[in-house]
Amino acid sequence: MPAADLHLVVLAGGNSTRIRTGGPKALLDLCGKPLLAHVLDTLDRLHARHPGGRRILVLGPVHHSALEAWLRKEGRLAGEGTGGWEIVIQEEPRGTGDAARCALGALPAGGRVLLVCGDTPLLREETLEALAALPGGGLLSAVEEEPRGYGRILRDARGGLEAIVEEADCDARTAAIQEVNAGVYCLEADALRAACARLGADNAQGELYLTDAAVEVLRASGGGILRLEDSGETLGVNTLEDLARVAARRRAAILRGHMARGVIVDAPELTVVEEDVEIGPGARLMPFSVLRRGVRVASGCVVGPFAHLRAGTVLQERAEIGNFVETKNAELGAGAKAKHLTYLGDCSVGAAANIGCGTITANYDGKRKSRTEIGEEAFIGSGTVLVAPVRVGRAAVTGAGAVVTRNRDVPDGATVVGVPARPLKTSAAEAADSED
Ligand code: UD1
Ligand code: MG
Repeated sequence: MPAADLHLVVLAGGNSTRIRTGGPKALLDLCGKPLLAHVLDTLDRLHARHPGGRRILVLGPVHHSALEAWLRKEGRLAGEGTGGWEIVIQEEPRGTGDAARCALGALPAGGRVLLVCGDTPLLREETLEALAALPGGGLLSAVEEEPRGYGRILRDARGGLEAIVEEADCDARTAAIQEVNAGVYCLEADALRAACARLGADNAQGELYLTDAAVEVLRASGGGILRLEDSGETLGVNTLEDLARVAARRRAAILRGHMARGVIVDAPELTVVEEDVEIGPGARLMPFSVLRRGVRVASGCVVGPFAHLRAGTVLQERAEIGNFVETKNAELGAGAKAKHLTYLGDCSVGAAANIGCGTITANYDGKRKSRTEIGEEAFIGSGTVLVAPVRVGRAAVTGAGAVVTRNRDVPDGATVVGVPARPLKTSAAEAADSED
């Protein structure tokens, strides 16, 4: 008999008060994408393996419009694009138990439900899959040296689940317990629905705790606890300090992945590579470099120190981006170099071109962005300003300090100098001039 449908539920209905930024914590950036996107991406992969279930996202009264706008822009809502998330609004954030009750109200009878808090972005699909495979359901726990802030797992004499005690309800004995609740549960939907309906708010926070309902369901079903020893995966984000800790872990993991694939990283703790960056083997990242989400760097490239590669940057083989160079929507051909103090925005640079120190593509006129094209083997002199839209031809040269004005394209092989830049007269041409 096939396993019952696995519905996925993400709780993100809280007010984000402890974050103190005023905005929703679900949209805080973590390595180039919002916290919530990390959770949804992982669950989307899980859903692909359990396509019979539904995907429910619980949002709250304060932040739901900002979150819905983001979901719509990303095409993640049910019936849109590749999305499939149904929104349920929790009218008042009365606690995680109430949020779960709202989600269950949108689901049919029967089936199982995997609930995840929207603020635990590092959870891995494999872990969730292992939790879903526990007979009788289960919850995820982790051992934390510093358990502050989490619900503590209380076990009975036989090691089974007895209770989850929230931080606010802990006494000295329970506060010392290092096994914490990750806030991830896989439960029979009908049993949870019934348990949530019975929840009271007789606790230090006056909230309806999903933890209480989950314990009741698991004790009745004989479900288990999936305990992780390396707790990094279950870190929750309740404060900006938590976010920084989670980001440090994720950045380290991203860099470990690149190093395992042959990327040389001189100082991983001083290097930021966001999600979804492609880097070829043998490329080298020097310290204080930032590679934003989606950047592509081919084999043999050298980046940094102090380089900022922004969205849309593509470096072909052996290209080099050096000190204090910023790139955005910039494609550099094989062996092209921009080694010092340069801004390359909305441009393409041909293979083996050399971009001198202090070059600027002036891509924005206050209203519109325009493109700059630099041909193969071009030599851009130090301090050149290229006012877009403009094209510098193959093997063309600009003199130091030249300002190449818009649409004054430099032909292949030509040399321009000055402000505004004009063709340089060679001595032969000057001699011919004087003969006129
Ligand atoms: C929760 C757990 C705690 C666990 C920790 C793991 C409860 C009572 N406590 O605590 O045992 O160790 O997660 O990270 O469940 N939310 C709603 N509606 C609400 C309240 C919260 O949707 O009314 C959402 C929040 O937006 C958040 C998630 O539920 O995404 C968890 O809420 P949060 O307040 O962060 O719970 P914790 O105190 O972290
Ligand atoms: Mg939390």
